[in-house]
Amino acid sequence: MTDISRRQFLYLSAASPFIFQFSALATQGEGNKSNVIYPRTIAVLQESFKTEMIAYKHYIGYTSKALSEKYPNIAYLFYSFSYSEKVHADNYERILSTLGHEAKPIQIEIDVRNTKSNLQKAAQNELKKIQTTYPDFILELETESCEEAIINCMYSWKSHKQHEKKVKEIRKFSRAFFPSVSSKIEGLNLDFHVCKVCGATIDKAPRSPCVICNKSKSNYQKIERPT
Ligand SMILES: [Fe+2]
Ligand SMILES: [Fe+2]
Repeated sequence: MTDISRRQFLYLSAASPFIFQFSALATQGEGNKSNVIYPRTIAVLQESFKTEMIAYKHYIGYTSKALSEKYPNIAYLFYSFSYSEKVHADNYERILSTLGHEAKPIQIEIDVRNTKSNLQKAAQNELKKIQTTYPDFILELETESCEEAIINCMYSWKSHKQHEKKVKEIRKFSRAFFPSVSSKIEGLNLDFHVCKVCGATIDKAPRSPCVICNKSKSNYQKIERPT
């Protein structure tokens, strides 16, 4: 099976629910020229924007809760992730704008609990994005080949994969041993930087171009500790 036919097979067999979902969404658009050219891409971009804004708002809420519970390093981690999510959301909003569409406003109630629960929920959501959400988005985008949309979805996916190790550690230990894992995290000397192009998140000052988008290290934003 060639790459293309394998992709088509995967697309038809694994992503058919998405085809119908996104096609239906696309027909609800404004009906302008860009909507006709890239209907599925626009639908995916709207969903991606929504996904990232929901994550952004939750991480901001988690940050405040961690600060109030005296976990400053976990708050710093959440705050840095929130910056990364906002980079992704802003990218989708910008691409939608270039295609003649506005990102749909997001109105959600954020679900913020204690920091232990928030860590577990964050871990679940990050892994879902890595394993399901973004692979499905990318598969759908490939049907229309809008390069900028595909590149930015890849940026988001890789950025979330970058968090995977940290998230897995947190998920593994925070269930039964939260006091020990939280004290371990609080003992770390963290210095988060986020790439303003792709959302890559690193915990040391950058020494080389971005590991995800390969743009200059000058694009990294040092994240100040939340107060
Ligand atoms: Fe994101
Ligand atoms: Fe980058």
